[in-house]
Amino acid sequence: MRTITVLNPKGGCGKTTIATCLASHLSWDGYQVALADLDPQQSTSDWAELRPESYPEIELIPYGAKKIRASRGTDLMVIDSPAGIHGAELQQLVRRSQTLLVPIMPSPIDMRASLRFLENLFGLAAVQKGSVKVGLVANRVKENTIIYRELNGFLGKYRAPYVAHLRASMNYVRAAEKGLGVADLPRYLAARDWEEWKPLMRWVEGKRSQPKK
Ligand SMILES: Nc1ncnc2c1ncn2[C@@H]1O[C@H](COP(=O)(O)OP(=O)(O)O)[C@@H](O)[C@H]1O
Ligand SMILES: [Mg+2]
Repeated sequence: MRTITVLNPKGGCGKTTIATCLASHLSWDGYQVALADLDPQQSTSDWAELRPESYPEIELIPYGAKKIRASRGTDLMVIDSPAGIHGAELQQLVRRSQTLLVPIMPSPIDMRASLRFLENLFGLAAVQKGSVKVGLVANRVKENTIIYRELNGFLGKYRAPYVAHLRASMNYVRAAEKGLGVADLPRYLAARDWEEWKPLMRWVEGKRSQPKK
């Protein structure tokens, strides 16, 4: 089983949104998916409880579970991590993952905090050795804004691949309140979001997001 962790200690950058949407995309792609909630705010656990049965199933490993372990046969586990994670807890989470997705918002405060976090992350042995692969995701972007261009420049130059940019859209908010991701919305509403998720899914489902065996 492979573990993909959505990680950035900055609160509000889109970890839960991306973790839940990624889980739903993967389940539509035919994988058996588990979603683990490590955040005491339990937004992912709430989301999974709201998820209607008529949509592809995602196994929840709720916040506070004794063991973060998925059922047998699970292909992929997506972990939603809490704000403020650092030190030994951060190291442990990085070590158990094969892939890290780091969402970053186009705001000066978020970019500065994220830059500091990335420096810290790239100092970790697991990342340096390549036993975990890191992908950057610009989230909640408004195209044609100066700050988005700055974020683009910043992410484009970074050591990790810049795998997707996701627009700011009420689709994410509306989907989340029903236990859905953008992959679960109808095409006429979410076609543009599906397009934006394509490069992210190609990276996640491809070899470059996985350590060499
Ligand atoms: N791309 C987006 N477009 C619009 N709203 C978004 C987007 N990504 C996240 N949000 C909203 O921003 C808020 C914070 O996102 P969330 O995923 O909870 O962040 P985190 O888990 O990192 O704290 C939520 O209300 C969420 O619905
Ligand atoms: Mg969250």
